[in-house]
Amino acid sequence: DPALRVALLGAGVVGSQVARLLTSQRDDLAARAGAALELVGVAVRDVSVPRDGVDPALLTTDAEGLVERADLVVEVMGGIEPARSLLLRAIAAGASVVTANKALLAEDGPTLYAAADDAGVDLYFEAAVAGAIPLVRPVRESLAGDRIRRVLGVVNGTTNYVLDQMATEGLDLDQAVKQAQALGYAEADPTADVEGFDAAAKAAILASLAFHTRVPLEQVHREGITAVTADDVAWAARTGHVVKLLAIAESTDAGVSVRVHPALVPTSHPLAGVHGAFNAVFVEAEAAGELMFYGRGAGGAPTASAVLGDLVSAARHRVLGGRGPVESSYADLPLLPASAA
Ligand code: NDP
Ligand code: HSE
Repeated sequence: DPALRVALLGAGVVGSQVARLLTSQRDDLAARAGAALELVGVAVRDVSVPRDGVDPALLTTDAEGLVERADLVVEVMGGIEPARSLLLRAIAAGASVVTANKALLAEDGPTLYAAADDAGVDLYFEAAVAGAIPLVRPVRESLAGDRIRRVLGVVNGTTNYVLDQMATEGLDLDQAVKQAQALGYAEADPTADVEGFDAAAKAAILASLAFHTRVPLEQVHREGITAVTADDVAWAARTGHVVKLLAIAESTDAGVSVRVHPALVPTSHPLAGVHGAFNAVFVEAEAAGELMFYGRGAGGAPTASAVLGDLVSAARHRVLGGRGPVESSYADLPLLPASAA
C-alpha cells in the first residue's frame, strides 16, 4: 500500500510527542494501520525554534497549504481560530482528521461533526477529554447500545495537580500553577484550567456524546478553583475530605444538567485517591451499571498516545474502507438552566 500523508498542526507539548512517536513507532504504526504513516509537514508559528525530534525541514507556517496535501490531519495547535478553519479545510479536501482541541469541540463541535459526516471522513478526538484515558470511544461506541445516565469525575489534570500540591506541599495557587505549566499539563492560558473552562468544555463534550444531545458550553454551570484557599484545603483534610474539581453530567426525566465546581470528597472515596495530573471518570449506564476510567489526564506523551490511537483508526479506514462513528443525529432533550446544581 502507498504511504498515507500525515500533516501535523502544532509542535508544542503534545505535537512534539506525536512527532516523536510517529518516528519511534514507525514500523508498528505501519503494521497496525496497514500503510506507512509519513509525516509530510508540521505547522507552527515560528519555524526558527528547534523542536526536539522534528526534522526542521518539515516545519512550515503555511498550515493552509499543508492540510491540502495530506490524507490525515492532526490538529494539536489549540484555540478556536485558525484551528476550526484548518480542520474544515482539511475535511473539505477529503482528509480524515484527529484533534485534541476540546475548546473548539465544545464551542463548535456540531459544525465539525456535520462537515466530516457530509464529506464521509473520520473525525476523532479521544485526546480532547481526559488525556490518555480511553473515554470518548467507550462513551461514543462501546456504550452506544446502552443508556448513559450520569458521567462524573475529575477531568482536568492541572487543577487536580494544583489542589494536590496545595494540600501536600502547602503551595499557593500561583506557585502550583507555574509547576503545572512547567510539566506541560496546563493550557496555553492556564486561566482555562483554574477557572474551570477546560473542565466545562470536556463536560459539554462528554454530555453531548453520552446523552446524544447538543450541550452548548453556556449551558454548563462552571465554577473554578480560584476561590479555594489553603485554609479550605487544610480544613477539608482535618474533616476527612479532599477538595476536587468535579465535572458532573446527568440525564434525568427533567432534562440534562451539566456542571463543574469544586467539591468536598471523603478520603474514603476512590476519587480522593486521584493525584497529580491523573483523571478519573465514573460512567453510569442503565444496563452496564457503573464503570470507572482512570489514568493520566494531561501531559505530552499521554495525550500523544490517544492521538496516535485515533490516527491508526482513521488510517485503517483509509486503507480498508469504513468509517468511525458520526454525530449527525441528536435528540432535543431539554437542557436544565446553567445554574441548576
Ligand atoms: P502548546 O501551546 O504547547 O502547542 C501549540 C502548538 O501549536 C505550538 O507548536 C504552536 O506553534 C502551534 N500553533 C499555535 N497557533 C498556531 C497558529 N496560528 N499557526 C501555526 N501554529 C500554531 O499546546 P499543547 O501542545 O499543550 O496543546 C495543544 C492542544 O492539545 C490544545 O488544543 C490543548 O487543549 C490540547 N490538549 C493538551 C493537553 C496537554 O496536556 N498539554 C492534553 C489534552 C489536550 P509555536 O510552537 O511556533 O508557538
Ligand atoms: N490542561 C488540560 C488539563 C490538559 O490540565 O487537564 C488535558 O486536557
